[in-house]
Amino acid sequence: LKLGIMASGNGSNFEAIAQAIADGQINAQIQVLIYNNPSAKAPVRAAKRGVEAVLLNHRDYKSRQVFDTKIVQTLQQYNVEWVILAGWMRVLTPVLIDAFADKIINIHPSLLPSFKGINAVEQALQAGVKIAGCTVHLVSLEVDSGPILIQAAVPVLPDDTVETLHARIQIEEHRILPQAIALAAAGQGSRGAGE
Ligand code: GRF
Repeated sequence: LKLGIMASGNGSNFEAIAQAIADGQINAQIQVLIYNNPSAKAPVRAAKRGVEAVLLNHRDYKSRQVFDTKIVQTLQQYNVEWVILAGWMRVLTPVLIDAFADKIINIHPSLLPSFKGINAVEQALQAGVKIAGCTVHLVSLEVDSGPILIQAAVPVLPDDTVETLHARIQIEEHRILPQAIALAAAGQGSRGAGE
């Protein structure tokens, strides 16, 4: 399975995928990392893993569609088959979603369909839920929607802050995102279409 990973920030999920591949848990290669934020740490991690990183800064494009067209071109140039959104903080348009129909996976730090959008961990804390978690899902046009692949739950503890709760959720993210990619890779292989 040839993966393209898209990240906007720290890239700990990128790291978890790269490690799972190195450990032989996923039969896949990371073709390219696309990042949109010049100060993201994800490309530093990519360099250490020998993965090519391409900066596509959304501020350089006049619309979301033009930006997504450039992303699709880049993914195709690197022969990407599946796209993994690993902390990608931009809304996708049909330009990208249709080019990789049912082959875009997202990780979101809540138990969807609760707490869509940004600040999901803060939303959970404010709602006073006692169980939080994360969701890996296939991407459809509506933000943080589409068929759910895997979820994991964590407790919310009385003294939690956004930081402590997010850290607990991220431990689960780093487990279920590689697991979901492994499932996708296995499905692909059983249909004989994968590599
Ligand atoms: C994760 O919490 C993910 O669920 C959210 O953005 C965060 C990215 O973390 N969409 P990282 O950059 O992979 O460390």
